[in-house]
Amino acid sequence: MNHRLPIRPRRNRRTDAIRRLVRETDLNPSHLILPLFVCQGKNRRVAIASMPDCFRLSRDLLVKEARAAFKLGIPAVALFPALPNKLKDKVATESTNPNGLLQQTVRALKDAVPGLCVITDVAMDPYSSDGHDGYVHARGEIENDRTLDILAAMSVSQAEAGADLVAPSDMMDGRVAAIRAALDDAGHTQTGLLSYAAKYASAFYGPFRDALDSAPKKGNKKSYQMDPANVREAIREVQLDVAEGADIVMVKPALPYLDVIRAVRDAVHVPVAAYNVSGEFAMIKAAARNGWLDERSCMLEALLAIRRAGADMILTYFARAAAEELT
Ligand code: PBG
Repeated sequence: MNHRLPIRPRRNRRTDAIRRLVRETDLNPSHLILPLFVCQGKNRRVAIASMPDCFRLSRDLLVKEARAAFKLGIPAVALFPALPNKLKDKVATESTNPNGLLQQTVRALKDAVPGLCVITDVAMDPYSSDGHDGYVHARGEIENDRTLDILAAMSVSQAEAGADLVAPSDMMDGRVAAIRAALDDAGHTQTGLLSYAAKYASAFYGPFRDALDSAPKKGNKKSYQMDPANVREAIREVQLDVAEGADIVMVKPALPYLDVIRAVRDAVHVPVAAYNVSGEFAMIKAAARNGWLDERSCMLEALLAIRRAGADMILTYFARAAAEELT
């Protein structure tokens, strides 16, 4: 017996063709950025226990990986250097070495894959003997303004090596303005600035810190990264970064912060990036390895959800696997 139901939303879900017509959000390789960890040496590929299928790669292998990603339609990579402890100190001296691991890798990438957008992370932690993103004062406090000078010099060094976008992930006050001014003074007016504008003090970064061996030696990052309880504060941070000259703003992590992505998307008119961080990746991988989740479907659903929340682009360790599914 038919009920009289003039409105039946299921009609729009009846066939695959109709579902395609009414789909509101799309996900394709152009939306993805692949984070890569670079280590010293040649032909080295070091597994990361908490990030299955992710590796620290030596420069030669990293270039191959980036080329393969670019061929799949992924426009950009984000680089993170894994340095031996002997190169770390309190002021991140190695971060401005023109022949440092990161700088050499950027040059190699721009040579080998000229069309690829190369993004470099600006923060002290991979270079810091304290494992913090900022300069640690004798009393254990993070000194904001002293850090700005270090970050500005680091950004200029990365731009000199050929980075297309520098991406400060440190959450110091005023760093976007300081970096923009330093880049412009050095003539790098075309180097873009992707700011980790709303970055939370999240436990989901755990596997990343294993990958770089960069966990703080003392204390935590709560005096600079944001409290997970706050969303108004995210808008304040984002608006400041836009005013200081950020070309793109980022929310990080992504999946537990979809509401923040949406609020940021509605508040500003610059492109919004979201970072699907190491812990979000590890959760899906671990469950899939136990046979509890279907990895492929969960990966695509998670990335689509981040797009639906309002992200224009997504940094994700799934970038290559997702691009393979989407092309
Ligand atoms: C550090 C940095 C972190 C990540 C990117 N840049 C870790 C941290 O803030 O401790 C995390 C990325 C991830 O978990 O995938 N400046």
